[in-house]
Amino acid sequence: MRVDGDRLLQRLRDLAEIGAIPGGGCARLALSDEDRAGRDLVVMWMRDAGLEVTVDAIGNVVATRKGQVPGPAVMCGSHIDTVATGGAYDGNLGVLAGLEVMETLNDAGLTTRRPLAVGFFTDEEGARFAPDMLGSLVYAGGMGVETAHDIISIDGARLGDELARIGYLGPAPCPGLVPHAYVELHIEQGPVLDRAGEVIGAVTGIQGISWQELTFEGQANHAGTTPMAYRHDAGYAAAATAAFVRRLVSDIGPPQVGTVGRLDLHPDLVNVVAARATMTVDLRNTDEQVLQAAEKRLAQHVEEVARSEGVSVSTRRLARFEPVEFDPRVIALVEATAAGFGYQARRLPAGAGHDAQMLARVCPAGMVFVPSVGGVSHNPAEHTDPEHLVAGANVLLHTLVRLAEEDRIPQAPLPPEGGLR
Ligand code: GLV
Ligand code: MN
Ligand code: MN
Repeated sequence: MRVDGDRLLQRLRDLAEIGAIPGGGCARLALSDEDRAGRDLVVMWMRDAGLEVTVDAIGNVVATRKGQVPGPAVMCGSHIDTVATGGAYDGNLGVLAGLEVMETLNDAGLTTRRPLAVGFFTDEEGARFAPDMLGSLVYAGGMGVETAHDIISIDGARLGDELARIGYLGPAPCPGLVPHAYVELHIEQGPVLDRAGEVIGAVTGIQGISWQELTFEGQANHAGTTPMAYRHDAGYAAAATAAFVRRLVSDIGPPQVGTVGRLDLHPDLVNVVAARATMTVDLRNTDEQVLQAAEKRLAQHVEEVARSEGVSVSTRRLARFEPVEFDPRVIALVEATAAGFGYQARRLPAGAGHDAQMLARVCPAGMVFVPSVGGVSHNPAEHTDPEHLVAGANVLLHTLVRLAEEDRIPQAPLPPEGGLR
């Protein structure tokens, strides 16, 4: 049994037309009008496929296909929100491949023993409302619905109000139903598979994520008349911190990464010393202890630069998730399923955050990766070979079917089976 690759690829193209930006990318920030239009299209496809669609109190959409016996579903999914300079595949592949799995089973007239479900989770990107993976975090019980509804976006909107505005403040409760297992297909978004010429990744876990917003407050003053020693330059403090983040990361070495993705100055004028600077710092590492040490060194630097420049500083935590390890049985099942198609899957950790890391809190979870050409993502140029997109969907199909048929989640290693064809 194989998915219909043309149908999957056509749907990826159709969804990418919503919020399309030059260069083949998408801008569907969470709970924007574009996100609503994308949601409406995918929900229509889900209903057309005969799935039972629910929307929960944080706007997660779950579509279920009945099994022979009732009980927890084997679930897959991802997200369809994007960053403002997103590509066509980040998140969208996992959702539309999950839908394609359902369509393939419909076409084959097969009913799995356990129900199957495909979901898309609200605000995975965290670009408009922090933290990232918000919908799946709430689904898994890691944050209360009221707290989530009160989150304010970078444009000043309240999350609960935006959910209601776009018509996705649903009646299903959070936390959501606990699945039997969860498997997410995603593009790698990094260079490992592409560089190695490999098609399938069996994801071992996800690195820890630390997001902070720092605000330095100094004094606006005249750029020409104010002697350097008299300045309280919030812009300088922020720039020095951005340079420090790069030094810190080089000093720690891989896999530590660090990013200053936002930097706003006020009043943001050529001849005025900046009175206020607001910046974000994103630090990630697979080792929790090293990540904590990096956070500590950053905090020391921030205090020192604020003191020496005579500015105040305040810190707001936007996201903090410890590294996650996926279930060894699911990892082995992905490997065995890939082997059934003749692919030797590479084990690798995920560099990006994913909804699977939240589902891993409540059920056995894992992920399937396919290559990203040149490792480029969060960029309209993000690209994956169509053949690889379809290969990932086939591995997802057979991984899900095995999980839905087995009495228990299979112990590793499974023999590659002829049954995949
Ligand atoms: C979100 O997906 C992230 O990794 O930033
Ligand atoms: Mn993603
Ligand atoms: Mn992303």
